[in-house]
Amino acid sequence: MTDRPLVLGIETSCDETGVGLVRGGTLIADALASSVDEHARYGGVVPEIAARAHLEAMVPTIERALDRAGLRHRDVDAVAVTAGPGLAGALLVGVAAAKAYALALGVPLHGVHHLAAHVAVDTLEHGPLPRPSVALLVSGGHSSLLLVPDLATEPVVPLGATVDDAAGEAYDKVARLLGMPFPGGPPIDAAAREGRADIAFPRAKAGDGTFDFSFSGLKTAVARWVEARQRSGEPVPVADVAASFQEAVADVLTAKAVAACRAQGVDTLVIGGGVAANSRLRALAALRCEAAGIQLRVPRPGLCTDNGAMVAALGSLRVEAGVAPSPWDLPATSTLPL
Ligand code: KG4
Ligand code: ZN
Repeated sequence: MTDRPLVLGIETSCDETGVGLVRGGTLIADALASSVDEHARYGGVVPEIAARAHLEAMVPTIERALDRAGLRHRDVDAVAVTAGPGLAGALLVGVAAAKAYALALGVPLHGVHHLAAHVAVDTLEHGPLPRPSVALLVSGGHSSLLLVPDLATEPVVPLGATVDDAAGEAYDKVARLLGMPFPGGPPIDAAAREGRADIAFPRAKAGDGTFDFSFSGLKTAVARWVEARQRSGEPVPVADVAASFQEAVADVLTAKAVAACRAQGVDTLVIGGGVAANSRLRALAALRCEAAGIQLRVPRPGLCTDNGAMVAALGSLRVEAGVAPSPWDLPATSTLPL
């Protein structure tokens, strides 16, 4: 085991400073610092605040991960880092730190794609990914369906994406209009458990034959519904609104993910991203995948949200596949294509 390379992974694309240590497909340790509380009063992530928080958290978070693993800097054999997409200033801190550590330790540097890393993290829990697989990635910043050939050596192919808001962004906006805190996913998920999904909110782009999503009309429909209630002086049934909104999101996401697997002739679906922590999405995906004969793989919630283990996981796959390292002038690219 110890003869396989130890990969240090660094993730700073949004508001989480994530550090992970992976050796041969096994997560050795990880550590996370989050600036989410600093963004809460703005209702969304403020890029400059996130970048400064990464700068302060970087070294202590790396030290924490190494301490937890009982390892030292010189045990690291390669450094992997999210090169994009994400917030430019935030990415820059991670990429600069990764270069500094790799240079100082005399080990190779691997820039990785954030979305591919979200898929790769599943291999830490469920082993090698069948080739090809389909991945549904849903978070505050992205909602995509991807065809995943070989994670280490072949590029991931986009099948569809949101044309407006990301799924998590819709959760955050709807939570705000229901008077719930940011990030909105967890409180909506909790409220929905007490409610009935009996309000017919729209399922945009359902059955349109594409693998694209749209959530901004749904958010507007929820806002209109709530406003109409308030105007008529009736109480807003918050739990029912949350459950109905959540059902609409989970319905389109899972229907399109299953349709994408069928269209590609693929029998493995991986779900990742912060919204993959959603209880209804997980339950509905399990039901529909079972009915369609598709094997569903969802990492535990802590690995679904942004973290360093996912970057180390993809870095480890690349290193072990003998992929050439990134150049030392690796840029941080906020719009990095797949
Ligand atoms: O992957 P992530 O940590 O960060 C990025 O956006 O890249 O995802 C955060 C998003 C937020 O929008 C949050 O509201 C959502 O994931 N989220 C959830 C749940 N937990 C987090 N959405 C629905 N249900 C949840 N249980
Ligand atoms: Zn993410």
